[in-house]
Order: sequence, then C-alpha cells, then structure tokens
Amino acid sequence: MAMNILLFSSIALCLAFVALAFEPSPLQDFCVADPTSSARVNGQACKSPASVVANDFSFSGLHMPGNTSNPNGSRVTPVSVAQLPGLNTLGISMARVDYAPWGINPPHTHPRATEILTVIEGSLQVGFVTSNPDNTLITKTLYKGDVFVFPVGLIHFQRNVGTGNAVAIAALSSQNPGVITIANAVFGSNPDISSDILAKAFQVDKTVVDWLQTKF
Ligand SMILES: *[C@@H]1O[C@H](CO)[C@@H](O)[C@H](O)[C@H]1NC(C)=O
Ligand SMILES: *[C@@H]1O[C@H](CO)[C@@H](O)[C@H](O)[C@H]1NC(C)=O
Repeated sequence: MAMNILLFSSIALCLAFVALAFEPSPLQDFCVADPTSSARVNGQACKSPASVVANDFSFSGLHMPGNTSNPNGSRVTPVSVAQLPGLNTLGISMARVDYAPWGINPPHTHPRATEILTVIEGSLQVGFVTSNPDNTLITKTLYKGDVFVFPVGLIHFQRNVGTGNAVAIAALSSQNPGVITIANAVFGSNPDISSDILAKAFQVDKTVVDWLQTKF
C-alpha cells in the first residue's frame, strides 16, 4: 500500500513536471492577450474574440536597428507577448539583436525557451555551456545565413567578431521566454546577495565582489 502511494506520487510528480516544462497547447484558435484584465492565469487572459483586430497579430519596426550605445555594445528588440498580444498561449516569439563591432550579448539564459538564431548581417561567435558537472563550452563562429540553436535553459552568449555591425534574428519557443542575464542576476540582484556568499562562491576576495556589485 505504502509502495503504491509512493509510486502514484512519483508518477503524479513526473506528470506535473511534464505539464510545467512546456506551454500548454491552445484549446481555441487564439487567445489575444488582454493586458488590462485582472484575471490571474498562466499566461495572459484572452481579449473577447469579437474585439480582436488584425493589429493584435502584428508588430512593426523590426527593420530598425536597435541602439547599441551601451557597455555591452548590443541591443535586443523583443517581439514577445508584451509587444505582440496575439502571441498569447502560442508558445513562440522572436527578437532582433543588433551588435556594434565587438559588441556582446552577455551570458544569459531563457528559463522558458529554446532559441534558434540566424545571422542576417556580419559574423558572430556564439556559444553555450552544458550543465553540471561537465560545463562544456560549445562554441562556433557564424556567418551571414548561418543558424544556431541554444537549448532551453542553458547559459549562452554572442559576440560580434567583425569590424562592422552585426544583426541576428532569433526565434524562441515561448510567448514569454524570460531572460536571466548572469552578471545582473548574480551581482545586481535587489537587494544584494550577501558579498560573503558571492566571495565564497566565486572564490575571490570580498572587495572584488563589492566592486562588481557596484557595476550592476
Ligand atoms: C542611443 O543611446 C545612447 C545612450 O543611452 C543615447 O545617448 C543616444 O541618444 C541614443 N541614440 C539614439 C539614436 O537614440
Ligand atoms: C547588457 O545586456 C543585458 C542583456 O541584454 C541587459 O540586461 C543589460 O541591461 C545590458 N547592459 C547595458 C548597460 O545595456
């Protein structure tokens, strides 16, 4: 009996993980996001289908370069459910990424999405790191027309390795992929993670951590 209960709870737990790992399949043609709704659902509440218009399924402006005048030398222009309400519940989104010469999109992860990226201008070194214990770096230089995939959850980055600007278009397997930029999350959390913890974790002096924390 106890074994059965254990078995059932393990199965229930597995099913719960399966259910949480991917966005649910739509149960209707669409569910255009209604950001004004106070309903709390997984995703956003649906706008009334009667008031849905073509613009709910459209976004304009991805032809325009993003402003890369920042310390990273890159800019992400997302087109996810916040910019394009028709993406709600569909499990897909995209982004344009601009890179100044030698600009980087710093190491980050998307907690809810695999990303497939194509270079449409310039050349990029891209890479991701496998999970523990191997932490293998998988990296490659991409040229115009090349495509690369960053598996869901893994830390990845891009760097423009050309002397001109670079542009990439990314597609992501979530309407709301989320971004965790490693440096910002670790050294720029609000409030700070105690510098004692970070000093031990990174095996550096506390003053190094304090200094890094002022940067983020
Ligand atoms: C780009 O960003 C920089 C820094 O924020 C700003 O000074 C500059 O005016 C921006 N350029 C354009 C064209 O918006
Ligand atoms: C650098 O890029 C990350 C990820 O796009 C962003 O969170 C951060 O604000 C950027 N830093 C600057 C200074 O633009």
